[in-house]
Amino acid sequence: MQLLVTGAGGLLGSNIVSTAVQAGHDVLGTYHTDKPDLMAPHRRLDITHHETFRKLVNESAPDVVVNCAAMTDVDSCESKPTHAEKVNGQAPGNIAAICAERNIAFVQVSTDYVFDGKRETKYREDITPNPIQTYGQTKLTGERRVFECHPSALIIRLSFVYGVHEDTSDLEGFPAWVVSRLGTGEEVPLFVDQHITPTRAGQAAETILTLVSDDAAGTYHIACSECVTPYKFGEGICNQLDIDTSLLMESTTADVSRSASRPTHTCLDVDRVEARLGRPQPDLAEDLQAIRSSLEAGVR
Ligand SMILES: NC(=O)c1ccc[n+]([C@@H]2O[C@H](COP(=O)([O-])OP(=O)(O)OC[C@H]3O[C@@H](n4cnc5c(N)ncnc54)[C@H](OP(=O)(O)O)[C@@H]3O)[C@@H](O)[C@H]2O)c1
Repeated sequence: MQLLVTGAGGLLGSNIVSTAVQAGHDVLGTYHTDKPDLMAPHRRLDITHHETFRKLVNESAPDVVVNCAAMTDVDSCESKPTHAEKVNGQAPGNIAAICAERNIAFVQVSTDYVFDGKRETKYREDITPNPIQTYGQTKLTGERRVFECHPSALIIRLSFVYGVHEDTSDLEGFPAWVVSRLGTGEEVPLFVDQHITPTRAGQAAETILTLVSDDAAGTYHIACSECVTPYKFGEGICNQLDIDTSLLMESTTADVSRSASRPTHTCLDVDRVEARLGRPQPDLAEDLQAIRSSLEAGVR
């Protein structure tokens, strides 16, 4: 299979490129600012320049495009809503339309932040979204524009993405923040009133590629099977990496002031992907074990 992966310089994109190459697929990645050093050719692309995307598609003739490019800084989206709308809302639809014209499969990566977080139970794919900040609103526009322009697209929602970046081998996301604070002897305030289903980037990459090979379409949630607080997530990280937990402090979302509101309960229900693939999603401990193995192996 020939894949075109946009946003390959990011955490998820680097994992998709690497997993696809290891599985024997031909991959062309695109990056935005810094060219990643992955085992595939890369070209610079701003996804808002859809004519450049069209040329790239004409040259590389992919079977599938996986769009991992996004403005992911939730607070920056609040201060730059026009840019967020362009990148997260409009560009995915424009590039999906180019793929639809050529019968190229299209995967759009989205987020649990399309939900308002007011439910106490896990969010299934058919729950009506109601985002409460610009990031979620623009990502939801992106989902809707993609389906309008490419009705057989695959939309993947993730939650609290973390993992090892396949170019730098650095741990990224929430565990990196926890480990770095503990490394400098600082206390780590962790919310006990927020609930999430963390998604390991490497696991998401494998699952997305399996769904693509299986010609899946529609919306799927990919995350670990466990709904946890950031505090529990922090404890899990420390336990897995043999780090003392005494500097972990319980805190609440009210203790922190940020420009964008965060939903308090966005655990994703993963029954649909489990049923489709006939296997359970990993629990948090299994995903953290995989992180430990990657770090020990210094995996690229
Ligand atoms: N991170 C999370 O916790 C999380 C949670 C749920 C869903 N998601 C979704 O998962 C996907 C992947 O996110 P990630 O965690 O891998 O984030 P990431 O590491 O920030 O990667 C996003 C990539 O998009 C690139 N990008 C930004 N603007 C672009 C543009 N105009 N044109 C082309 N590329 C552009 C960035 O490049 P530069 O840095 O060079 O600008 C970056 O490499 C996104 O769709 C995100 O919304 C993420």
